Amino acid sequence: GKGGEFMNNPEVDFAIPENQKKMQEALDKIKADLGFTVPIVINGKRETGTVVERPDPSETAVVASKAHFASVAQAEQALAAASAAFPSWRDVSVKERADLLRRTAEQFEKRRFEISAWMVREVGKPWREADADVAEAIDFCNFYATEMERLSEPRKRNLPGEWNEYFYDARGPAVIIAPWNFPLAILCGMAVAAIVAGNPVILKPSEQACRVGYFLQEALEAAGCPAGVSNFLPGDGEQIGPTLVNDPRVAVIAFTGSKAVGLSIIRSASEVRPGQREIKRVIAELGGKNAIIVDEDADLDEAVAGALASVAGFAGQKCSACSRIIVVGDAYEPFCHRLGEAMASLIVGNAADPATNVPPVVDADSQARIERYIEIGKQEGKLVGQKAVPAELVGKGYYVAPSAFIDCPADGKLCQEEIFGPVVAILKAATLDEALAIADGTMYALTGGLYSRSPKNIERVRREFRVGNLYINRKITGAVVDRQPFGGARMSGVGSKAGGPDYLQQFLVPRTITESV
Ligand code: NAD
Ligand code: ALA
Repeated sequence: GKGGEFMNNPEVDFAIPENQKKMQEALDKIKADLGFTVPIVINGKRETGTVVERPDPSETAVVASKAHFASVAQAEQALAAASAAFPSWRDVSVKERADLLRRTAEQFEKRRFEISAWMVREVGKPWREADADVAEAIDFCNFYATEMERLSEPRKRNLPGEWNEYFYDARGPAVIIAPWNFPLAILCGMAVAAIVAGNPVILKPSEQACRVGYFLQEALEAAGCPAGVSNFLPGDGEQIGPTLVNDPRVAVIAFTGSKAVGLSIIRSASEVRPGQREIKRVIAELGGKNAIIVDEDADLDEAVAGALASVAGFAGQKCSACSRIIVVGDAYEPFCHRLGEAMASLIVGNAADPATNVPPVVDADSQARIERYIEIGKQEGKLVGQKAVPAELVGKGYYVAPSAFIDCPADGKLCQEEIFGPVVAILKAATLDEALAIADGTMYALTGGLYSRSPKNIERVRREFRVGNLYINRKITGAVVDRQPFGGARMSGVGSKAGGPDYLQQFLVPRTITESV
């Protein structure tokens, strides 16, 4: 790889028969490898632990993967390895570290369809979204490589008799704790940001996505990442998480996941323990309760299609997903009617089937939680649209029925709590003012959307709908690295946007040197 301008990696176009064929072949090929057991990697050495099985969410009778789950003692060994690797990794040139990321991206490119196929089987991500996940991981590598090169230019202010230099240094060992819903992209983005900044990492993939997470470790190693700079630690978050978070050697914790776990990490990391020499930096990207406002004059065809994609894509299992739609004035009745009809035409199915728009959800706990919210919706309001799970799939996988509700109170459970499934509440607002107030009426501030044809209203919403990522006249999911730096405010997290110009600074320490001459 070489330096220079960043360019987004294009997603694979599955309308092209050749690409369909490649994906189908990859799915066929990995069938022989299902049940692959993911190892623990500490200081370059493969280790074993307690083997845990991961069912395929689309057909739970099949084991997709297995993983060796690390013990607390192994977590401590990984911390020791990352800590020992720090002094030398910090001093490796920026050029070399950036090139490591570019070679990692090339590894993903080489194994693109294979990684996507595993994503389909391990977490039930449909083809297009699995490929977009790999594309985003590639983008994170190339973008942060370019960003680190940009930041490595020292800022100089030289006066007669006084030379001043401002530059960035590495922070120290970083613990990377990732969710399962973007099993390659999010783990990769947080990890390569730390690595390119000069910080060795301990990768803690999600329990539900160890095989996909292991592709990152494999790619880093194939790209020449030294032993100890990337340690791979599949395991139970509740068991090994506190060991990783509390260790005095850790300088940075990059976490993406639920609000509950994120807040507990922030609390633990603020405590100073024996032997600790620095204040830990925590980056915590958390949940959302995202709303789309549909203005009275909106193009309803567009609004229905965009809202539905935001609600039901990957079965609503995105922090960016839409779970509230607020419709202004007379648009309410026709919008509800059309959304209900559109919802009924969704295809709920196996993630491996290219026709599927709504795959199963990730596990039995998620399925039960979402079904509970569907019951709450029926109590708080009224069902206005639903696609039942096809009879032949009931009991075969973790399928849930995409559902839309009306008449739920804006301050009730359905409209306030993150559901993380294909469930949406439609609310009525008399005016745009009221719509904005409802939209802003949760503790989260991650994504938001507006469908409108009125330049005046668009202008107002741009200023007053204060979410991290606001989308106008399009769906609210699918942020692209560099084009739409991603991340929220308020309870949606602390950290500056992934894939944006301020992200790497969080992994760095700025220093100033003045020399009298
Ligand atoms: P989760 O919080 O359950 O798990 C995330 C990770 O934390 C896992 O690797 C888990 O093993 C680990 N963990 C669990 N307990 C821990 C502990 N006590 N200490 C340390 N680590 C621990 O989240 P999830 O179910 O994997 O992901 C879904 C959540 O993630 C949703 O709330 C979603 O909104 C959020 N999310 C946010 C973003 C964002 O960018 N803001 C992106 C994706 C997902
Ligand atoms: N970055 C992901 C999206 O925008 C979460 O949908």
